[in-house]
Amino acid sequence: PAKVRIRHLQEAKGARRPFAMLTAYDAMTAKVFEEAGIDVLLVGDSVGTTVLGYSSTVHTTHQDMLTFTGAVARSVHRPLIVADLAFGSYQVSVEETVRHGIELLRAGAEAVKLEGGAVYADRVRALVDAGVPVMGHLGFTPQSVNALSGHRVQGRDHAAADRLAEDAQALQDAGAFAIVLELVPAALAARITEITHVPTIGIGAGRDCDGQVLVWADMAGLSGFEGKFVRTFADLRGELGRAAADYRASVEAGIYPGPEHSFE
Ligand code: KIV
Ligand code: NA
Repeated sequence: PAKVRIRHLQEAKGARRPFAMLTAYDAMTAKVFEEAGIDVLLVGDSVGTTVLGYSSTVHTTHQDMLTFTGAVARSVHRPLIVADLAFGSYQVSVEETVRHGIELLRAGAEAVKLEGGAVYADRVRALVDAGVPVMGHLGFTPQSVNALSGHRVQGRDHAAADRLAEDAQALQDAGAFAIVLELVPAALAARITEITHVPTIGIGAGRDCDGQVLVWADMAGLSGFEGKFVRTFADLRGELGRAAADYRASVEAGIYPGPEHSFE
């Protein structure tokens, strides 16, 4: 199957053909998701909470992102690979932002994602001008969990909804090629999807977005997180737990390894 490019996502929007994005942080899962036909792999800064044990993505560093982006990029060919700009790597200045975007592309990403709207339009424009494609991220933006007073649906009242729509417009005008909408009312996500010509990708934003994204460990029932917007498509936590317990019991009972696992 042909390499997924940015233009394929725009074509999908035009054809009203929903596409799936999934996070990936390592070689093994990235290969599984490529074989499953996932079009876009996001090396999300959620690697910090899911894999590295941080309390929020505020703690995920740019160096973390380079490490995990490399792991995914070395392992797959077909999916479009998007990497998050870490908190702190694009807030300080346009120059730092462009340098960090270039480093993510050198690590193997094909696009970067940053959180925020009109306020970050100058940085989005500078990245795009430098040849670094940018995916926007609006609504509940996890790196601002402290400023937003926790995980809450955004854009509920009219003024906030209008601001969100304006932010989407600003990102598009600045050259963003797609926009993630996280924890926003479905009707608002549908409205933004309608007024933008770049694809929207929803997480907790209803079915009318052009694409959907989930944190893979949530989707597969490994993280234990079961927010309202998550459907667990597997029970990896149960499966892996049963495998580990079975292995332990087999060792303790002297059943494993058997002769067939042993060398003469
Ligand atoms: O880091 C992440 O996993 C994300 C998605 C949930 C959009 O940014
Ligand atoms: Na993220």
